[in-house]
Amino acid sequence: MKFSRLTNGLGTGVFARLAEKKREAERRGMKIYDFFVGTPDFPCDEHIREAAARAMRDPENVKYSLLDSDEMINAVTGYYRRRYGVTLTADMIASCNGTQDGMGHIGMLLADRGDYALLPDPGYIAFETSARFAGAQPYYYPLKEENGFLPDFSAIPAEVLSRTAYLVLSYPSNPVGAVAPQRVYLEAIALAEKYGFAVINDNAYSDIVFEGECGSFLSLPGAAEVGAEFFSLSKSFNTTGARISFLIGSPEMVGAFRRLRSQYDFGMFKPVQAMAVAALTGDTSGVKQRCDEYRRRRDALCCGLRSIGWNVRDSQGTMFVWARIPDGFGGSAEFAERLLERSGVMCTPGSEFGPSGEGYVRFALVRPVETINAAVKAIDDSGILNK
Ligand SMILES: Cc1ncc(COP(=O)(O)O)c(C=O)c1O
Repeated sequence: MKFSRLTNGLGTGVFARLAEKKREAERRGMKIYDFFVGTPDFPCDEHIREAAARAMRDPENVKYSLLDSDEMINAVTGYYRRRYGVTLTADMIASCNGTQDGMGHIGMLLADRGDYALLPDPGYIAFETSARFAGAQPYYYPLKEENGFLPDFSAIPAEVLSRTAYLVLSYPSNPVGAVAPQRVYLEAIALAEKYGFAVINDNAYSDIVFEGECGSFLSLPGAAEVGAEFFSLSKSFNTTGARISFLIGSPEMVGAFRRLRSQYDFGMFKPVQAMAVAALTGDTSGVKQRCDEYRRRRDALCCGLRSIGWNVRDSQGTMFVWARIPDGFGGSAEFAERLLERSGVMCTPGSEFGPSGEGYVRFALVRPVETINAAVKAIDDSGILNK
């Protein structure tokens, strides 16, 4: 059968490949400590699940939804006011089935063939996919350890900036775990105003911050004129499978996004809309408790690894730890493979997140402290740090 060039260019995702390796290792009887996928292990709060169950009892709610309910839009505006001090109007909000899905449409929404998309390197893989599917050229701005994993926009040539359709910012950052100060967002807005491009902020980890603060991009002057942010409930509320996210910002952009998405989809499932309302208007104490638990896990992993001679940095936020690989290994893929073979500990090679990720591996903090402690011991016992 003939497939398009686009489809033929797609490889198997890194997590599917790692899951296959995990299965093989388990078949050989190995004890596996799995830190590769960023799926939270916490249950979704009961009041959120209950809202979906209640909504499912009404057959009307199983029909096409077509529109975001007023109740859900009001829940988002109320949450933004309380949580971020940002006032929104209804035309600034559009739902999507998760940021992954929404981001997938951003290239098509904003770029023409040959335009540049400025993307963080290393960064979340969907940013690149979205640009490529639209025929845009990814231009990677490197996040270097010596710059605190922050962008140096002054290093991007003016001829690139003048042919840029959009810039993606994403802090707290997956995979590097850094949090950005306000000046980074202000610089991005100033550049967007000067060169006439859009800014998309992916705010997936705004509630998992250990050092510094993470608010909303939209609280900054000029932000809603040049761009929008994705506000996903996946990580803050453990609703990963329910696929709840919103594009929030410039009414012009949000309107165009809604029109584009209406070609592909008939709206967010009503029971899922009910979950969003319950999450955003109900008890949010679990959000802080989970952030505290991620901090305990970060401390267990980072302090644990340092105590056995692997000098890793503390993440400032997110559910990830970004660790420079020890000397003497060919690259991050080889190191991750050897780590699995010798200790049973699984992480993701940094090279999967872009060229600047080479030399690092990413651990997802998706296991309890006791499992993290056992994994650190397995690494120590394996002797891999002494080669
Ligand atoms: C930076 C970033 N954005 C978005 C997502 C996915 O969000 P959603 O579940 O809303 O698709 C992830 C998930 O790992 C992420 O790391």
